[in-house]
Amino acid sequence: MREQFSKIGFILAMAGSAVGLGNAWKFPTMVGTNGGSVFILLYLILTFLIAFMVFLGELSIGKITRKDAVGAFSELANKGKNIWGLAGFFMIGAILIICFYSVVIGWILKYIYSSFFTLPNTTDAAGAMFNKLISDDLSSQFTCFTIVFIMIFWVVSKGIKSGIERMNVWMMPALFILLILMLLYSFSFNGFAGAFNFLFKPDFSVLVNDGSLNTELILNALGLSFFSLSMGVCVVLTYAASLPENTNVIKSTLSIIFINILVGIMMGLIVFTFVFEYGASPNQQGPGLIFVSLMSLFSNLGIIGNILAVAFFIALLFAGLTSAVSMVEPFAFYLINKFGISRKLALTYIAIFVYIFGSFCILGFHKDYSIYFTFFGKSIFDCLDYLTSNILMPVSAIVTCIFVGFVVEKCKLEELFIPYMKETGFKIWLFFIRFICPIVILVIMLKNI
Ligand code: PHE
Repeated sequence: MREQFSKIGFILAMAGSAVGLGNAWKFPTMVGTNGGSVFILLYLILTFLIAFMVFLGELSIGKITRKDAVGAFSELANKGKNIWGLAGFFMIGAILIICFYSVVIGWILKYIYSSFFTLPNTTDAAGAMFNKLISDDLSSQFTCFTIVFIMIFWVVSKGIKSGIERMNVWMMPALFILLILMLLYSFSFNGFAGAFNFLFKPDFSVLVNDGSLNTELILNALGLSFFSLSMGVCVVLTYAASLPENTNVIKSTLSIIFINILVGIMMGLIVFTFVFEYGASPNQQGPGLIFVSLMSLFSNLGIIGNILAVAFFIALLFAGLTSAVSMVEPFAFYLINKFGISRKLALTYIAIFVYIFGSFCILGFHKDYSIYFTFFGKSIFDCLDYLTSNILMPVSAIVTCIFVGFVVEKCKLEELFIPYMKETGFKIWLFFIRFICPIVILVIMLKNI
């Protein structure tokens, strides 16, 4: 019998998976580069109209069968069980994500450590510090990556309840407390008003680009919404297989989405308060905003800046770790079920893969080795990010929609959902999952490639 979460444990663990570097890093960066409030508005609309619906679809596959991803797809298919079972292998996407994701958590660990002592006082110095770390400092990177790697696999090795649930039960509230304290502190700055306007006062002019609708903005918002809800790589499905009976799946999903949005907005307010306070540019790509600008901005505050930087990176560490742990579970669960091996052995195979590919990601930034890890002009880190977010996740979401909408017996879905969303709610959801969601996602995907 599969171990089960407690009800609150499920919400915290799923929210822990959802709330991660996606909210802490991608969200503020994308809001900054995509013109602020209108992007948030689009993100909210798409989260509720598309991501919420597909999330429920993925959840239903896990909850109804209580099996690993491959087993779940094949059990629910009446015909072509083996072929549908292959859809479960989208979980490999989660393993690919963790390879580069844990490298970033390693950087965060390094920044917690160095923020105790010094903060670079100009943007140039902060940029140089970050470049030195990724292109020249293999020993720091490997040390931090290895520590992060050990933490992740140690927690997953403890299982659903005493590993994953327990970690989330204390890290998620701790993350919240840190964010609230930092947010309260941000209130005292003039930059807070600028941040607030930037995030909440819509400037619809960004929706139009050269006289036509800026579709890229819409696509980016949808992509972020998927990534930040951990969808399309069987994480939702696998966690749902451990859902306690009689859980109100709608309420739980809405709570998870609400927490996810809230954390993104809190992060955005904190980051942009300092950006506006010190007149930096909100429009920055990649690691610029968090690892470069914010560091030099914090240095304006003296010792308080050090405390704030440490608190900020600890919050990021918690957010990242709870997400990383969720990426390992789908494949581990599959290996254990399929081959009857122990949890430890399954994790050992996964760990070897993650360590090797994680190391490649680190070497891919190094000045001497990057040429060996560059493909199609992109570093292996960027390739993995691109492959998972822009290809695997959307394709998997479309497959999930088709599977849930047309293959899974309707009565099973009705039994799961109707107690919580009534007959009309169910009909609307089914219409979305059958037609609206796959079509919209297809458009996004084709535009992104
Ligand atoms: N949702 C996580 C974040 O926002 C990333 C993630 C993607 C986690 C896929 C699990 C699976 O950072």
